[in-house]
Amino acid sequence: MTNKNYLWSGDDNQSIDAELMDFMAGNDIKLDRYLFIYDIVASQAHIGGLKTIGILTSDEYKKLHDCMAVLKDLYQKGEFVLDNSYEDGHSAIEFYLTEKLGDLGKKAHTGRSRNDQVLTCSRLFQKDNLQHIQKLCKTLAQSVLNLAQQHTQTAMPGYTHLQRAMPNTVASWLAGFAESLIDDAYILSSTIDYIDCSPLGTAAGFGVPLDLPREQVAKELGFARVQINPVYAQNSRGKFDLVVLQSLYQVMLNIRRFSWDLSLYMTAEFGFVSLNKSHTTGSSIMPNKSNPDVVELMRASLSVLEGAMAQIQALISLPSGYQRDLQMSKEPMIKGVLLTKQVLKLMPGLIKALNFNKEKMQQAISPDMMATDQALAHVKAGTSFRDAYGQAKTEVSQITAQESLNNRISLGGAANLGLDVLQKRLRKLDKRLLPY
Ligand code: ARG
Repeated sequence: MTNKNYLWSGDDNQSIDAELMDFMAGNDIKLDRYLFIYDIVASQAHIGGLKTIGILTSDEYKKLHDCMAVLKDLYQKGEFVLDNSYEDGHSAIEFYLTEKLGDLGKKAHTGRSRNDQVLTCSRLFQKDNLQHIQKLCKTLAQSVLNLAQQHTQTAMPGYTHLQRAMPNTVASWLAGFAESLIDDAYILSSTIDYIDCSPLGTAAGFGVPLDLPREQVAKELGFARVQINPVYAQNSRGKFDLVVLQSLYQVMLNIRRFSWDLSLYMTAEFGFVSLNKSHTTGSSIMPNKSNPDVVELMRASLSVLEGAMAQIQALISLPSGYQRDLQMSKEPMIKGVLLTKQVLKLMPGLIKALNFNKEKMQQAISPDMMATDQALAHVKAGTSFRDAYGQAKTEVSQITAQESLNNRISLGGAANLGLDVLQKRLRKLDKRLLPY
């Protein structure tokens, strides 16, 4: 049997098997720690709505509001702990209010359900974090652009099929990531817009027989609009979580590819890049080792995110309305969001810790890599491309890597990277304008 506090047990002192309850609670209480502040803020807005329609007097509203403010403060200071004595964060708020305010505390949950409550605090958590992640994404794009700026003249081999292809520059390689990050930061903006609707007031998924001022409450919580239909509100759980992770996936794809490139370029065989000591780790047995573990863990983070997405995707094969299955979407959602945030926060430091070995990169550019330049030199002299291609195949090009790069003048080419255009797109994102 359990001595936990349950909102739904009423006065009949229902006895529930503790093991069963532990299974049903899962990690919920731990996960609710990430949502608790949002839950309190949403509860404060909800009681504001109850005051507007006369369910609470101004005095009752104030007492409840103040009591929740104290709870928020205590929680932030670590003096109120969400522990296993509560079923979830939602119940903890109500128990606290009732403990402090007696019968008045019992009024706070009027006209809502934990079903719209969990949706609301999760959505606030997601909005906040997406905004933060978008900023991190922009900061990262900026640091990649800054590094690119320093390496517009640093030649490196360009590969297709992982075989030497044509000369390229470090700046070109980096600017590719910067442009992608800028586009992906824009995806985050549109995801924020997509999820920016308040489910609060849809209750268990059918609305309530009260004239709740849903628009007022939505506005107070900073939502752009109300999520009107209560069935849709419930059906959006998991679905919205998925779109959040999907947009983070786009961002993290850049990190995986960048990490992969670094892993290769850091091998002795390539020797193009090294990492400052601040970012390498040693081996417990091999004294000679200095390993880029951080790069590998950043690469692996996308797999974790992918796993989280798969979990949610599988989970939302459900009929309409609230099902307790949905509780299990909380862990992968929170894990995916927090991991992305952690990786993005560390990325600018990693960028700063990179050292490029110009000589090694230059040595890896063999004369055959200028064959395309050779063919196009013939084209400029009037030969058709196919004939010029055949000619270049049999010749040893005298064109240098530097000449090859200097001639790459069309927009995006090594001699015309458009870094200033990318910089402008980044600034437009700051103003929440379309990047184009
Ligand atoms: N912990 C629950 C969840 O995340 C809260 C909602 C509970 N609702 C219910 N009808 N049992 O889904």
